[in-house]
Amino acid sequence: MTAGERPLAVVVLAAGQGTRMKSALPKVLHPVAGRAMIAHVLAVAESLAPAKIVTVVAPGMEAVAAAVAPHPTAVQAEPLGTAHALLAAEAALAPEIAAGADVLVLYGDGPLITAETLQALLAARGGAEPPAFVWLGVRPPDPTGYGRLILEGGGLARIVEEKEASPAERAVGLVWGGLLAGEGRRLFELARRIDNCNAKGEYYLTSLVALGRAAGARSAVAESAFEEVLGVNSRAELAAAEALYQARLRRRFLAEGVTLIQPESVTFAWDTVIGRDVTIEPNVIFGPGVVVEEEVEIRGFSHIAGARIGRGAVVGPFARLRPGARLEEEVHVGNFVEVKAARLGRGAKANHLSYLGDAAVGPGANIGAGTITANYNGVYKSRTEIGAGASTGSNSVLVAPVSLGAGAVLGAGSVLTRDVPDDAIATARPPLQVSERAAERYRQRLRREKEAALEKDRETKREGDA
Ligand code: UD1
Ligand code: CA
Repeated sequence: MTAGERPLAVVVLAAGQGTRMKSALPKVLHPVAGRAMIAHVLAVAESLAPAKIVTVVAPGMEAVAAAVAPHPTAVQAEPLGTAHALLAAEAALAPEIAAGADVLVLYGDGPLITAETLQALLAARGGAEPPAFVWLGVRPPDPTGYGRLILEGGGLARIVEEKEASPAERAVGLVWGGLLAGEGRRLFELARRIDNCNAKGEYYLTSLVALGRAAGARSAVAESAFEEVLGVNSRAELAAAEALYQARLRRRFLAEGVTLIQPESVTFAWDTVIGRDVTIEPNVIFGPGVVVEEEVEIRGFSHIAGARIGRGAVVGPFARLRPGARLEEEVHVGNFVEVKAARLGRGAKANHLSYLGDAAVGPGANIGAGTITANYNGVYKSRTEIGAGASTGSNSVLVAPVSLGAGAVLGAGSVLTRDVPDDAIATARPPLQVSERAAERYRQRLRREKEAALEKDRETKREGDA
């Protein structure tokens, strides 16, 4: 509900092809902090609990429709301008408009917008005599290309696009950020009357301000930080949006009691969850789906995605936790250890050079340096079970499906191909042979062989010279 208890509907404009991205992927599907830009916009829109969210797409944008599902899409058959794009959503919103809903218009390529700003925009539609439309105003460092907001007598008189602006109008620093809230019924009524008689031959949504004013539908401006409406049209702008989003996440974690030794070198995902008193060393990367409990230490150069890390665990340096990694409390995962779809029980340790995939490691188990779970036979994957308190020797291979019982010991260099019961010792390696004093005889033979080969070369050369 908006300030005036009116229902709310949201339109997200995403029909632009984004040609400047030079990509096979539709622009709004490019990720920021590990999530498609359109999904960021939808999530913020959802937080307002609107009656409906309609995304306007171009023909052939099935991937965008799939990304916004179960929210509906409307197709704008041709890119004739922003007013034309809005009208593409009209049929889908007919019931909400008939019910007197407010309509909020957003752009699909603006992933930095916040719920607070949208709420402020909607709140400006409240009061005794609310304006019919509220336009989000921003002051970019360079206003070139934006629609200038022309204020007269305290109200918004019109928006002038770059191509039509006079030099005096171009000097105006307050521009439209591309977001708008307004009375749905009058929004669509007026949008239908917009023409394309302008320099670009497009139906400008911004023409609505002057049209509305003439028809007694007043427009007002709500200002926000420029950062929030930063639109992404190129890879450079995508990188800029990513940097701003990462900076936000870092500020949030620092405020919540996380130590970041070199904040700007850590990359988070949109959904990263980190508990208090966690320390993160430089150059750590979080992919989506990571939960880190309290008092964990994450050392430098670790890469973590889809993993849960229990309280007091130590991860890295140079650790790789892949989706399905579950480390219980006090687990240690050290350098050059990769964990995928594997649970390590409380206090288990895998400190060096290992691969643990499709595995369960019991509490207190010790995984020796170079232990590998051979989980894939080229066709399908199998599981490895390592019991509580068991230990695997250095450079051992557990060929799944296989289990090492609780408290069992697997000898270094072993290849384990069948199950071992609890508390057993299993060793599988060729017997060691020692031949006393054989090394010197061996080296003498090698020297003789080398000398014979050199002599043969010299002979061949003499014959050639003769
Ligand atoms: C628009 C505004 C400008 C504002 C700026 C803010 C108009 C006429 N101008 O300019 O006042 O300062 O945004 O960023 O509205 N789209 C469609 N179908 C179309 C055309 C556009 O869906 O036919 C979508 C695009 O995908 C994009 C958005 O609408 O998400 C804005 O379109 P764009 O062409 O980028 O408008 P600007 O020229 O930047
Ligand atoms: Ca734009």
